[in-house]
Amino acid sequence: MSETDLPVPSVPNARDAVRALRPSQIREVANAGFGVADVLPFWFGESDRVTPAFIRDAASAALAAGATFYTHNLGIAPLRAALADYVSKLHGPTSSDHIAVTSAGVNALMLAAQLVVGAGDRVVAVTPLWPNLVEIPKILGAHVETVALGYGERGWQLDLEQLLAALTPDTKMLLINSPNNPTGWVMSRDEQRAVLAHCRRHGIWIVADEVYERLYYAAPEAGVESTHSRTAPSFLDLATRDERVICVNSFSKAWLMTGWRLGWIVAPASLMDDLGKLVEYNTSCAPAFVQQAGIAAVQQGERFTQELVLDLKASRDHLVRALSAVPGVDVKAPPGAMYVFFSMPGASRSLELCKAMVREVGLGVAPGSAFGPQGEGFVRWCYACNTARLDAGVERLKRFLAQHGTR
Ligand SMILES: Cc1ncc(COP(=O)(O)O)c(C=O)c1O
Repeated sequence: MSETDLPVPSVPNARDAVRALRPSQIREVANAGFGVADVLPFWFGESDRVTPAFIRDAASAALAAGATFYTHNLGIAPLRAALADYVSKLHGPTSSDHIAVTSAGVNALMLAAQLVVGAGDRVVAVTPLWPNLVEIPKILGAHVETVALGYGERGWQLDLEQLLAALTPDTKMLLINSPNNPTGWVMSRDEQRAVLAHCRRHGIWIVADEVYERLYYAAPEAGVESTHSRTAPSFLDLATRDERVICVNSFSKAWLMTGWRLGWIVAPASLMDDLGKLVEYNTSCAPAFVQQAGIAAVQQGERFTQELVLDLKASRDHLVRALSAVPGVDVKAPPGAMYVFFSMPGASRSLELCKAMVREVGLGVAPGSAFGPQGEGFVRWCYACNTARLDAGVERLKRFLAQHGTR
C-alpha cells in the first residue's frame, strides 16, 4: 500500500487556543454593510485624513535613497535616538537602550506578551477593551481575567480596590490601556501610583498600552513636567526604566500613520537582547523607509499633533452635543482617545443593532459587545473626521430611531 492509499485524516484544524479566539465583531458589522451603497463608516479607529505630507515626503526620499534593506532588529539607531529624545521630553530621561522599534502597536503588544507570559499564566485586563489586548495572551495559552470599569454619572470609572484584589500574587501580567479604547477612560495618576506599588510588591508585570497618550483633552495634572502641551498620565512618569513595566506605543494615532505599521516599546534594558530575538522571529524588523519616516514624525510632528488634538476635541464636543439632543441617547464626553462610547435604544443587543443600522441607514458604528461582555449596552463611534460627516451620521441615527421607535 502506498502512502497515498492511507485514509485521509479528519479535517485539519488550528490548535484549540487559536480556534477559541473571538472573531472581530466590528468586522462582522462591516461585512453586513457590504453591498450597501454610501455607508458612513465610523467603526474603525482611524482618521479619514491622510498622513501629513512631511512624513510621506520623508518616506519617499528614503525610498529614493535606497532604504530597502533589513535593519537592526530593534530599529535603526537614529529612530531609536529620536524616540528616546521624544519619550524623555514627555516622561523624563530615557535612553535608546530602553527603546525598541516595532511593526506598530499591535505587534508591540504581541512582543510584550511573548516576553513575559506563557501557557497557564494568569493575566488581568481592565475592560471594556480593544479585543486584541485580551486575545493576544490567549494565543500564548495564558488565562485572562477581566476587571470591568463601571459607568455612572462621571462616565467610566475604575474600581481601584477591585483591580488590586484581582492582582493576586500569582498574576503574571496586568494589561492597562489608558486612554482607553473604546471608552475614552483615562487612568488617574493616583490610580497608577497605587497599581504600580501593588505590582512592585508582587512582581507583576505591567504592560501599559499608551497608544492614545497624546489624544488627551483634560488639563495636564499639576506638578507634572512636560514640554509637550498635553499627555495623559503615563506609567513612564512614575516607573523607573528598569522595572517590570513595558510601555507600548504607536505612530498610528498621533501622526495618522495607521497604514504604515510602525510603533515602539519602552522596556527595561535587561529585556532588549531577548526582545531582539522575538522581533527576529516575528517580523525581523520594521521596514527601513518607514522607520525613516518615523524620524520625521517624532522630530517635526509636534505642531501637527497639537493641532490634531484640538481638531479632535472640537469633533468630540460636536458629536457629544448632537447625540445628547437625540431622545434615548446617553452620552458623556470622555477625556481621551478618539471615540464616544454611548448607550441608545436597542443597544442591549449591540451587535444586532449595529448590523441593522448599517443595513438600513448606512450608519457604520462598532457594537459595544466587540469590546467584551462589559461593553454590551453601548455603541462606539470614532469621531476623527469633520463635523459635516458627523452631522450626516447623527441624521442617519435619528432616521433609524424614527423607524424603530426609541424604546
Ligand atoms: C488600544 C489600542 N492599542 C493598540 C492599537 C494598535 O494600533 P496600531 O497597531 O495601528 O499601532 C490600537 C488600534 O486601534 C488600539 O486601539
